[in-house]
Amino acid sequence: MRTRPLKVALLGCGVVGSEVARIMTTHAEDLAARIGAPVELAGVAVRRPSRVREGIDPALVTTDATALVKRGDIDVVVEVIGGIEPARSLITTAFEHGASVVSANKALLAQDGAALHAAAEDHDADLYYEAAVAGAIPLIRPLRESLAGDKVNRVLGIVNGTTNFILDKMDSTGAGYQEALDEATALGYAEADPTADVEGFDAAAKAAILAGIAFHTRVRLDDVYREGMTEVTASDFASAREMGCTIKLLAICERAEDGASVTARVHPAMIPLTHPLASVRGAYNAVFVESDAAGQLMFYGPGAGGAPTASAVLGDLVAVCRNRLNGATGPGESAYTALPVSGMGEVVTRYHISLDVADKPGVLAQVATVFAEHGVSIDTVRQQGKDGEASLVVVTHRASDAALGGTVEALRKLDTVRGVASIMRVEGE
Ligand SMILES: NC(=O)c1ccc[n+]([C@@H]2O[C@H](COP(=O)([O-])OP(=O)(O)OC[C@H]3O[C@@H](n4cnc5c(N)ncnc54)[C@H](OP(=O)(O)O)[C@@H]3O)[C@@H](O)[C@H]2O)c1
Repeated sequence: MRTRPLKVALLGCGVVGSEVARIMTTHAEDLAARIGAPVELAGVAVRRPSRVREGIDPALVTTDATALVKRGDIDVVVEVIGGIEPARSLITTAFEHGASVVSANKALLAQDGAALHAAAEDHDADLYYEAAVAGAIPLIRPLRESLAGDKVNRVLGIVNGTTNFILDKMDSTGAGYQEALDEATALGYAEADPTADVEGFDAAAKAAILAGIAFHTRVRLDDVYREGMTEVTASDFASAREMGCTIKLLAICERAEDGASVTARVHPAMIPLTHPLASVRGAYNAVFVESDAAGQLMFYGPGAGGAPTASAVLGDLVAVCRNRLNGATGPGESAYTALPVSGMGEVVTRYHISLDVADKPGVLAQVATVFAEHGVSIDTVRQQGKDGEASLVVVTHRASDAALGGTVEALRKLDTVRGVASIMRVEGE
């Protein structure tokens, strides 16, 4: 074993960074044996230096992250600050000064992944980010390496623990969205401002990263269709149950049936209770992968939290350190297929539509005609009438989102349709 240590600069020492430092210290001997050289924490950059940080030598703490990455003797920079800047500049500077980078930063990777990969390649360095998607769950490396000989067609994931906790609560207790969100906040599963989670921004960043790796093509954050889950109601769950389904916020990355394009989207969807993702409870994450040769695979585990996320960061750190000792780099960006990313209109799926209609003869025929005129074929219709008003629940066969959109627009114009109460996509069948 080499005795000269590999030097690690830790940028950020919060929820994740403090656990990275703890494991680096407590597992130092095992890490050294697995890597083939000791790893030394050479510096820790934070915003508030006076804060007490258990187990961290105060002499290592600095507020000058740039100076730390510019030292010239750093082998690996671990970026767990988060956000776009200064994380982006620090990572770029790290490459320029000869270091490889491990990051947990989904927002940055989704926005600037291509440029950062190019910078890593220019400097013969590694850029690893297993922790950026679904915390502890090994996903990036399985997609990038273990499935490198297969053809992935679909990735369907619950990649945000906060929203899964809220939806699971609504499902299991009949609570409304606000009540479930309040409980998630009280238990520390939701942040004071939950927008990034409940509006699907966090999941969209992860979808962009997953789609890019799964399909060997560049998928930018702007390419991902996004719909949050704040409009999901207790009555949507009741409708889902009647269909033998539950509701999950899903990140869905798909290759088109003709293989000529891909799509990436995040939205709430009904999935059958028999689908493995339906049994993912609480704040857990899971990603279901469908590929040509392997068939169906499911990756499951804690998608957040200090120690679970640090597990993924440490796995990357070991890999990057091994590469460094071997004078090599791991796989970089693979975007050779350069497939076009289609918009939401081209997505083909099934729909559950709930309409408030007048309870009088001929309404059903009128509604059915609108569906037929837009080429959307109906699978089932259920009607419940009360005091001259009725609700009509239509479940369609597979149709494009554009066709469904046209159907709904035309339905809204019918005098007999009082309103479109909800539209929910049905996935995982
Ligand atoms: N938390 C999770 O469960 C989780 C899961 C998966 C991925 N991630 C990702 O991991 C990253 C870190 O998340 P986190 O939850 O650990 O965040 P956090 O608890 O807010 O910690 C951020 C750390 O960065 C430091 N920092 C902030 N601005 C800085 C600057 N300009 N220069 C130097 N240091 C700075 C902070 O210093 P102070 O300590 O002085 O404030 C803090 O130590 C993010 O990219 C996040 O998306 C987190």
